[in-house]
Amino acid sequence: MSIDQKDFVASLGGVAVVGGMSSEAKADALEDYLMQQLNDALNAPTLGGDSAPAKRYPTVAEIEAQIEKHPLRRGVGNLFYSSTGNVKRLPRMPEKPALADFFKMRFRATANHVLQSANLAKKNGMSEEIILACLLHDTVQELIKVDHGWWCAQLYEPYVSEKVAFAIRHHQTLRFYEDKANGYAYPELYRQMFGEDYKPEPYVEANYKFVRNHKWYIEPRMVTVNDLYAFQPGVNPQIEEFTDIIGRHFKQPKQGLGFDNSPVAHMWRSIIWPDHPL
Ligand SMILES: [Fe+2]
Ligand SMILES: [Fe+2]
Repeated sequence: MSIDQKDFVASLGGVAVVGGMSSEAKADALEDYLMQQLNDALNAPTLGGDSAPAKRYPTVAEIEAQIEKHPLRRGVGNLFYSSTGNVKRLPRMPEKPALADFFKMRFRATANHVLQSANLAKKNGMSEEIILACLLHDTVQELIKVDHGWWCAQLYEPYVSEKVAFAIRHHQTLRFYEDKANGYAYPELYRQMFGEDYKPEPYVEANYKFVRNHKWYIEPRMVTVNDLYAFQPGVNPQIEEFTDIIGRHFKQPKQGLGFDNSPVAHMWRSIIWPDHPL
């Protein structure tokens, strides 16, 4: 996989920012950059090879024809593969890990995206519950990408309000349906990722009808409005900026995430120990 050095430096905020980074931070940033490139390549197969820019959107049939050209299925979680050859040893997590520990030690491929979304939601004056939903909305993609709205809501359900879980669960569906009145257009990226002639599965269509008529429709809609795909150079919000909101709206279990015997504790343990063979 090739690296565009100018693009990489710009993505970190420019030469001055890079000059002030430790070599470890640079190595981490490079790994994140490569991981993002691989995600993009896996999620948006281009026609005519990895390095050729897409001249047009692929069709659903063309995307399906790519399945057998990759060693991984598109729904695999980010923690389970490496973009730089072999996977690295993960740092050992604290005995009673808190949400912020996962952001720092496990959510490496998704943290920047969700922090940027939460940052935008905050700037746009959204409620604290919507900001929290934005902060969490894609993090389960470290574990699994298929049906990530449902998986992600399940992962957080014991610890957040029903409204936050609703926003996380249904942002997945609403991503497919435009709502110009609320400032949401169908994303170009989806034409690339899913194919220009893609139609959501019937369960997604049915779920859209349900959510569209729900009294909390605006909650997941605002997650989609503040959902960013473009990397914003120089915008690197940190998890500490959301400590207060997490403190007010996230019920951190005292035993640590993964060890509270909740119905989703095993999901957190799988994120802690993705190298366990069974
Ligand atoms: Fe998402
Ligand atoms: Fe997102």
